[in-house]
Amino acid sequence: MSTHPLTHTVEAAKQRYALANPTSMALHEEATQSLPGGNTRTVLHADPFPIYMKSGKNHQVTSEDGKTYTDLLCEFTAALYGHSNPRLQETIANVVQTIGMNVGANTRQETLFAREVCSRFDLERVRFANSGTEANLHALAAARLFTGKHKVVSFSGGYHGGVLGFRGGVPAKNNVDKHDWVVACYNDLESARAAIKTEGVAAVVVEGMQGAGGCFAGTIDFLKGVQEVAHDAGVLFILDEVMTSRLSSGGLAQMYGLKPDLKTFGKWLGGGLAIGAFGGRADIMATFDPRLSTSVAHSGTFNNNTLVTHAGYTGLKELYTSSDAERFTQLGEDLRAKLNEVSNGTKMCFTGLGTIMAAHITKCGTREILRASDVEEDQVMMELFWFEMIEQGFWLAKRGFVALILETPQEELDRFVGAVAAFVSKYRSELSL
Ligand SMILES: Cc1ncc(COP(=O)(O)O)c(C=O)c1O
Repeated sequence: MSTHPLTHTVEAAKQRYALANPTSMALHEEATQSLPGGNTRTVLHADPFPIYMKSGKNHQVTSEDGKTYTDLLCEFTAALYGHSNPRLQETIANVVQTIGMNVGANTRQETLFAREVCSRFDLERVRFANSGTEANLHALAAARLFTGKHKVVSFSGGYHGGVLGFRGGVPAKNNVDKHDWVVACYNDLESARAAIKTEGVAAVVVEGMQGAGGCFAGTIDFLKGVQEVAHDAGVLFILDEVMTSRLSSGGLAQMYGLKPDLKTFGKWLGGGLAIGAFGGRADIMATFDPRLSTSVAHSGTFNNNTLVTHAGYTGLKELYTSSDAERFTQLGEDLRAKLNEVSNGTKMCFTGLGTIMAAHITKCGTREILRASDVEEDQVMMELFWFEMIEQGFWLAKRGFVALILETPQEELDRFVGAVAAFVSKYRSELSL
């Protein structure tokens, strides 16, 4: 097999990275003594070692090696409010100082928060959990109990949590319920139709845009089609809005005019604290109504914790109102358009929706990508892009994922466009079509 023409360039970038981040290298070494591979969250692993962050302020993060980065990762969409929002600091301090944590009882605040989440996302009832993974697991349990069926349709490239991944069109090795999935092809309505009509299907779960899978947006026709086919087949339609809920005041469902039976949430909704939520039709959510003799438990020690119910509420009511969401999504659209402009005519492109996007450098150079399986990424060039963006002071995911933090200065976004333009020009011959 021939070596990639830029292998040496990547190796040189890796060496510069190692030299520039000696404290992170030492911390990683130390971490390997208590964490397997020095890691407790696989996505953050990097070769030769990950950079360790010491702190975050507003839209920036500062490493243990003393370098400050513009944070374009946004904790994979969860850090919408940045790292030190004064109103969230005040809210959290107030809970700690005057309300108390872990009160082990129902609180007035959980109702206020629930009411706000229901009204924002057009849900009849909602329940809280501690992560997006949990939200999806509970939503699937509700769908199975409600329909009395067990199979679930998901999509190739989809990601619904740490034990609910479908990269490559198969349930990941660590998935729960590995044998109960029918995995269809994303953005392919015929494939979805056949899967949904399989005997014994309780629900279809879909992301409006596959986020972890590469920021490939579902077409409106595909998503509406899935909704319609599911409805006709008596199969519940679950929209995973864990990432996309920030794209408009009512999430992607509102943007695209969808009416899912259930929706799931997480990430930014907790105001920066751990959260999951799922909700929708009252008759389905009644599965968990403890007043009913038929009900099933939905438990979780921290489901209604005082910190998250206050922080999440402050976020929704004061910091990310409907008009903020519309404005912010437009800002993301503008940024992506500029990134695609400076990379136009090359093998690099940026896919996504609003303030959630991903860089791609593909071997074939197409810019119209409907799903991950349509393209093969040039992994060597993607790695080089990451190292070079790190050197330019931009913190983003190694796989090219970018999400924006509110109030990131426009100059920093322009500087990122400039850095991408410079990368494209530096490697013009390797990136040429
Ligand atoms: C669409 C989607 N669903 C679910 C999850 C899982 O959320 P969590 O990491 O909070 O468990 C993620 C996380 O990236 C996600 O992107």
